[in-house]
Amino acid sequence: MPGGIETGEPVVIAVDGPAASGKGTLARRLAAHYGLHHLDTGLLYRAVGLRALREGMDPVAAAEALTLADLAEPALRADSAAQAASKVAVIPAVREALRGLQRRFAGEPPGAVLDGRDIGTVVFPDAPIKIYVDATPEARAQRRHEELREMGLASIYSRVLQDMKDRDARDRDRRASPLKPAEDAFILDTSDLDEEGAFRAALSFIEQRNR
Ligand code: CDP
Repeated sequence: MPGGIETGEPVVIAVDGPAASGKGTLARRLAAHYGLHHLDTGLLYRAVGLRALREGMDPVAAAEALTLADLAEPALRADSAAQAASKVAVIPAVREALRGLQRRFAGEPPGAVLDGRDIGTVVFPDAPIKIYVDATPEARAQRRHEELREMGLASIYSRVLQDMKDRDARDRDRRASPLKPAEDAFILDTSDLDEEGAFRAALSFIEQRNR
């Protein structure tokens, strides 16, 4: 495992942070580098959010019935799914149901990188490596705006920025597992870093931690 943490248990790397901070890309690259599984836990909340708000399903029942096979749906990538996700994510019983799924996923050897909001604080408080990825709201909104345009979708920067601020506020101010860095997390500000720079900074933190 990462440069030699020999715990005998599957290893978990927790990557948390607000929307469009770059945590997903970083988590994917770390998983590929260390040969670990990867789970974008936001997709779980997106899937529950869509089922609840589009199909009128009870959010707790939707969370209890969710499987990894449900995460491939392209509609989960839309911004409307992200807004729906942050609305069901405030419900403690939804979070509890999804916690079991996340723990089972990471229990498969050799372990996993999970990215989300509460991986290092609540889902895996004992993870040996925790990274909290952050960036200014403007830098994050600009990235999201460009991504949407590259997907051929209409996007207005000021609207993206406002939606992002609303969602950040909902995630930070909720009582159940609010978005915040774990006390022992490495804070990685990506406002002025590209993908490669963020990856290199995370690697050097992990390698230093493992020495
Ligand atoms: O990709 P982006 O960062 O924009 O969003 P996401 O990671 O897919 O998460 C969508 C929403 O799900 C977040 O705004 C949170 O409200 C919720 N979420 C959560 O509460 N806990 C997680 N571990 C992951 C996502």
